[in-house]
Amino acid sequence: MGLAAPVVTAGPLAHRSARMARLLETARRVAQSDANILLSGESGTGKGMLARFLHEASARQAGPFVTITCANIPGELLESELFGHEKGAFTGATDRRAGRFEQADGGTILIDGVSELAPAVQGKLLRVVQERAFERLAGTRTLRVDVRILSSTQVDLEALVDAGTFRKDLYYRLNVIRLELPPLRDRLEDVPVLADHLLADIARRRGGAAQRLAPGALESLERYEWPGNVRELQNVLESAAILADGPEIPAEAIRTGGSRREGPAARAVVREAFEAGATLERLEEMYIREILRATRGNRTEAARILGINRKTLLEKRKRYGIP
Ligand SMILES: Nc1ncnc2c1ncn2[C@@H]1O[C@H](COP(=O)(O)OP(=O)(O)OP(=O)(O)O)[C@@H](O)[C@H]1O
Ligand SMILES: [Mg+2]
Repeated sequence: MGLAAPVVTAGPLAHRSARMARLLETARRVAQSDANILLSGESGTGKGMLARFLHEASARQAGPFVTITCANIPGELLESELFGHEKGAFTGATDRRAGRFEQADGGTILIDGVSELAPAVQGKLLRVVQERAFERLAGTRTLRVDVRILSSTQVDLEALVDAGTFRKDLYYRLNVIRLELPPLRDRLEDVPVLADHLLADIARRRGGAAQRLAPGALESLERYEWPGNVRELQNVLESAAILADGPEIPAEAIRTGGSRREGPAARAVVREAFEAGATLERLEEMYIREILRATRGNRTEAARILGINRKTLLEKRKRYGIP
């Protein structure tokens, strides 16, 4: 036949690796069900993007898709964000307000960074997960919603369950199906298609034709370890596109930042810890110190590379006495 078969793409997630193909195939299949799904993976691996794909490939696609980002929202505020509140529920609650669960009725909610939930909120969430029922803060009426629940985490939730900081019953309910986004360094064969896709995106936003990567530029992208995963690739290409200022991006325009030194430096830390017979805790301390050094004390950047939020980094710095 003259015509090539149409390329079947799994939503907007560019990929080439067999691992991603399998993952997206599973995602497409489970999207149709109403089962709760836990998306796990390091920062920038595509959890948010996959969540949206799950919604759009589901029967709920015409309904709302609502995200709540748990990191950096203090406990009580988070509770009112999720469940809403009545007028006068707390100081400053001058109006009744619908929470994200009400807003997501008939659609999908993504609880982003679910590991950050305080114990009290975990208990309330468990009830919603089990019964799809809750009350607004200071409310007496029980509200019922029809919502599909997706949650995402950068950290290992089982470890938190073992440590006793995340409820086991809630974990099992959220983790009915698990989709794990692999780090980009474990699927470097995705880099060329991702780069093409991202450069086309950048061109669309800036106007004009998409730039190509010079062979040397692509090579250096494929050699890097991408601690910040696809988001970091996006940022690197964004600045390369500006620096290059022509149809082809040369190798010199690829600035992978301080992190180029992090790979070997981080390996040295592990070796040093191993030789000293260090405990896991001591290794964590050493690693945090090394990343802070590599980022020249830039805490936002360090937290991003470590895959934790700034508050957690602050707590760990306090615990280990790191300035
Ligand atoms: N396979 C992919 N194809 C195209 N773009 C991608 C792909 N994966 C990720 N991206 C892009 O990379 C960026 C980071 O992805 P996303 O926000 O989904 O990551 P995340 O896992 O939710 O990160 P975080 O844990 O920090 O919230 C986004 O701009 C997204 O559009
Ligand atoms: Mg995200």
